[in-house]
Amino acid sequence: MTANTAVIQIEQLSKTYQRSRKEQVDALKGLNLTIQQGEIFGYLGPNGAGKTTTIRLLLDLIRPTTGRALLFGEDARANSVALHRRIGFLPGELNLWKGYTGQQVLDYVGKLRGGVDAAYVRQLVDRLQFDPTLKVRTYSSGNKRKLGLVLALMNRADLLIMDEPTGGLDPLMQQIFNELMLDVKAEGRTVFLSSHVLSEVQAICDRVGILRGGELKAVESVSNLMHADFQWVTLHFREPVAANALAQVVGVSEVQALPDGLRLRLVGDFDPLLRALAPYYVTGMVTEEPTLEEVFLTYYSGTSGKEATR
Ligand SMILES: Nc1ncnc2c1ncn2[C@@H]1O[C@H](COP(=O)(O)OP(=O)(O)O)[C@@H](O)[C@H]1O
Ligand SMILES: [Mg+2]
Repeated sequence: MTANTAVIQIEQLSKTYQRSRKEQVDALKGLNLTIQQGEIFGYLGPNGAGKTTTIRLLLDLIRPTTGRALLFGEDARANSVALHRRIGFLPGELNLWKGYTGQQVLDYVGKLRGGVDAAYVRQLVDRLQFDPTLKVRTYSSGNKRKLGLVLALMNRADLLIMDEPTGGLDPLMQQIFNELMLDVKAEGRTVFLSSHVLSEVQAICDRVGILRGGELKAVESVSNLMHADFQWVTLHFREPVAANALAQVVGVSEVQALPDGLRLRLVGDFDPLLRALAPYYVTGMVTEEPTLEEVFLTYYSGTSGKEATR
């Protein structure tokens, strides 16, 4: 496979669930999205956005209402058995094999996959600090997640599809997860992961797509999002200054009073703000880039100067 090969190509994909005789849910609405080989793509959105529905469609676990998804250039529905050999899947919930030990599950699934590299499986178990000797029933949600991660990674699949893999991982495990995903990427493999917490995935994703109400609102490279066109400015004054003193300044919005100053959002150049500050004695000024969450919210509310791209 050469670079710039589409590993996932989603065309006009929609899913309407029939919740009851009268009620339908448009869980996914005309999704178009292409993921290239070697990319880590973050599929972001709040609960109910349609992330799991998209993943189930990619895996041919449910059928689309319209549209199609191609994996490695082949229709996800046409040849799903062969395609699934090339995919490692981490479901959102792992509720199987409760009476078996972690090791028994690993051995069993490894055999189902036609044999896996035992040394690699051991290495994954060690890196995740996973104890495979206990019964699955006794595992905490974090340990179930670790078992799921080993199962998804064990056959070195060309494509990893992971539904909220980082939910509930502690910071150390989060770091190890990030390293594992970057190793996968370094081997030219591809990762599609969903999350509702941007800060958990922004360190590893090349691009993120923002889904809401079944619609893809934006697809952006993380570096573009991080260079959003606004910043937060905190000003400290020797004498109190009223918030409305700066409210009319070009580029300034959301002026908040702090105990010893003001915090505001600034778009564009500093000059109008600095000129407006001339009458006041400024003891300090701090600027901060917005967090990805704030950029995300800006996309949602549509108040950013940047256009969402598709
Ligand atoms: N099997 C189903 N039957 C009916 N509605 C469903 C079903 N699965 C999901 N939904 C609905 O579809 C929407 C998207 O759900 P889902 O894809 O699970 O979102 P997410 O994974 O982003 O939380 C929600 O409104 C959810 O209630
Ligand atoms: Mg979900």
